[in-house]
Amino acid sequence: MIDIHTHILPHVDDGARDLTESLAMARMAVADGLTHLFATPHHRDYTPLSRQEVMERTAQLQAELDQAGIPLTLLPGHEVRLYDDMFDDWDNHRAGSLGNSRYVLAEPLFSHYDKQTDAMLFELFERGYTPIMAHPERIRPIQDNLTLIEPFLAAGGLTQITATSLTGNNDWRAKKVAETMLRNGMAHIIASDAHHSYHRPPTLTAARDAAAAIVGLEQATAMVSARPLAIVKNEPVIIATVFI
Ligand SMILES: [Fe+2]
Repeated sequence: MIDIHTHILPHVDDGARDLTESLAMARMAVADGLTHLFATPHHRDYTPLSRQEVMERTAQLQAELDQAGIPLTLLPGHEVRLYDDMFDDWDNHRAGSLGNSRYVLAEPLFSHYDKQTDAMLFELFERGYTPIMAHPERIRPIQDNLTLIEPFLAAGGLTQITATSLTGNNDWRAKKVAETMLRNGMAHIIASDAHHSYHRPPTLTAARDAAAAIVGLEQATAMVSARPLAIVKNEPVIIATVFI
């Protein structure tokens, strides 16, 4: 399995606090069956890193994993926030795609989703990228009205739902929306959005199984394996939508 959304880089954002935490997360990921993991620090807030810096920090952490004998491959990325100056950041290399691929992990604001949000997503399409919307099931306006993301989906946009939205008991609203998205063929990839080894850990097996109960094991497995692998390889993500 491959996780396209994690905050495993230490000392960067609200994810891993230090190297010990990063290593604990990596060990947990391997134990859960993960082989590759994208490091996707928030591109805004905390200690923003340029594309170059994310690459360097990812390589540094990879060296630590190798030295510790943890068989996990790290890839660089950003969780790109869809806010007013996003393209200014993008054009100045302060935000980038997943592993230099055509795929961009794009996070709407939690508080509102409007025409401006769609405009940024569509500009990404125009620039030749495929946006992957980060955890729409946790975005309040989308929770209230799933049709908001229909234009994005119709344009070929992908969505990433968060593992604990399916498995956790804390956020019933996110869980309900994630399950509806699965049923309606609106969810394409499951990722951990791991910040720590304890809260939202870097594990996908339980969420895959929860998704399998709704869409079947083949679809659920594609969400954590074949589709993320296509992103690693920068190949087309195949969506065989099954409406339940
Ligand atoms: Fe995140």
